[in-house]
Amino acid sequence: MTGNSNWLRETANHNSKMLDLFAQDDKRTQQFSVTLDIVDEPLYADFSKTHLTSSAIDQFIALADQQGLRGMQQRLFGAEIVNPTEERAATHSAERGSGDEIAVDNAKMLRNRMYALIGAIDSGLFGEIKHLIHIGIGGSALGPDMLCDALARNHDRYDVHIVSNIDGAALQEALKACDPQHTMIAIASKTFTTTETLRNADSALNWLRENGVDDPYGRCVALTAAPDKASEWGVDDGRILPFAETVGGRYSLWSSIGFPFALAAGPEAFDQLLAGAATMDQHFAEADLAENIPFLAACVDLFYCRGRMAQTRAVFAYDERLRLLPDYLQQLEMESNGKSALLDGGKVTEPTAPITWGGVGTDAQHAVFQLLHQGSHEIPVEFIASSTPGHDLDAEHHAILLTNCFAQAAALMTGKSSDDQHKHYVGDRPSTTILVEDVTPAMLGALIAFYEHRVFTNAVLMGINPFDQYGVELGKAMAKAMSAEGNAQFDPSTEALMAKAGLK
Ligand code: F6P
Repeated sequence: MTGNSNWLRETANHNSKMLDLFAQDDKRTQQFSVTLDIVDEPLYADFSKTHLTSSAIDQFIALADQQGLRGMQQRLFGAEIVNPTEERAATHSAERGSGDEIAVDNAKMLRNRMYALIGAIDSGLFGEIKHLIHIGIGGSALGPDMLCDALARNHDRYDVHIVSNIDGAALQEALKACDPQHTMIAIASKTFTTTETLRNADSALNWLRENGVDDPYGRCVALTAAPDKASEWGVDDGRILPFAETVGGRYSLWSSIGFPFALAAGPEAFDQLLAGAATMDQHFAEADLAENIPFLAACVDLFYCRGRMAQTRAVFAYDERLRLLPDYLQQLEMESNGKSALLDGGKVTEPTAPITWGGVGTDAQHAVFQLLHQGSHEIPVEFIASSTPGHDLDAEHHAILLTNCFAQAAALMTGKSSDDQHKHYVGDRPSTTILVEDVTPAMLGALIAFYEHRVFTNAVLMGINPFDQYGVELGKAMAKAMSAEGNAQFDPSTEALMAKAGLK
């Protein structure tokens, strides 16, 4: 794949429509779906409504051999270097107990430290704490936000607010909802250098100070892989919850970055999250590739992205609890695999990560599905649904939700002919469906681990490094240069904007 994928284009552009593939094989549904038990609850992944064929999967398995996927998995789980540009391992799986023993033990020791701090907060050591304001951005916010939103909404342990944007309106909204006498601040930053996070943290501390909290630093917890920097900034060592440098930002919700969820839902729920993810780790490491859920999902991704040149991929969560999943996946997939360099430094000559976008069903049906059904793009869609509702209202709500989800996937595939072009649905539009028994901590852990391993598999098959993100640096450097006193000159358009906004 690092060379060219003519074979994939030929394979992916075979003339069979999906309905023909079903007609030719009455076992297609069973053959292209996998069920995996996650702590006794099934996760069902259906890849049958795609153009994948058995021979395409065989070709992808041959590609996996050629690209050394099994060896790379061993390196990943064995805490060997898989991020060569930064000369680092990627030990997010160790956070949930999978792989290298030393990394697993280290993660466990640090997790126990987090649980001890949660115990201290629960026991009133910091006074009566009711609110947590978690300040972080990117991987230091998207994961914890999704976890709290999905799984801790109905917990009454603590009221959690996640603030990421430097736009003061975001922090102000959180501050308004909290009582300073009963609030703790978590500052989440792997590097502890991120401008937005440190500025927001300063403002939060000022708010505590101005509202009569004598020792605002005493209310701060730092979640970081740079404990020295957190200590220099002013957080007491006892309230710094470190994690390993080898855990990447967008892979860090398993570490102390998951603190707001562990605090809000309790350590037991956090343990269940990790256990679910570990089940997916084991499946990814051990299941045959032909039945390996992350691998098959990566085959679908490459089939459409490189075989049929689909530029985007859409993800729709038919479950309000998972409404933040598309946002989370955008960073995971696009920051990991939005690359133009091959592992060996050569230039990538084919598309890498498709643009991930999406939303929540059924809302999205009434907004963007027109384009999916009749637009000129072929967009592979992923539907995610749960058999069990996340509410106590009439069961009809959930039945309508699920029927809509399944109906959309069926309609995309079957289409509908009409002589009137305005009413013609071309059909044969691909989708995958992930149906889980319920959105429990274990199931969400497994789902997230599934997406991580899918991203990794895509990267290995394409010969790129999913664990660095140099592309974010240039804009940061320019923003610094712009805000610094000095005579840095920019292009005329930018100079004009700065002048109009009063920045120069
Ligand atoms: O700018 C991108 C990025 O480095 C992400 O990779 C990361 O998740 C985010 O910024 C936040 O970084 P940190 O956790 O170091 O504050």
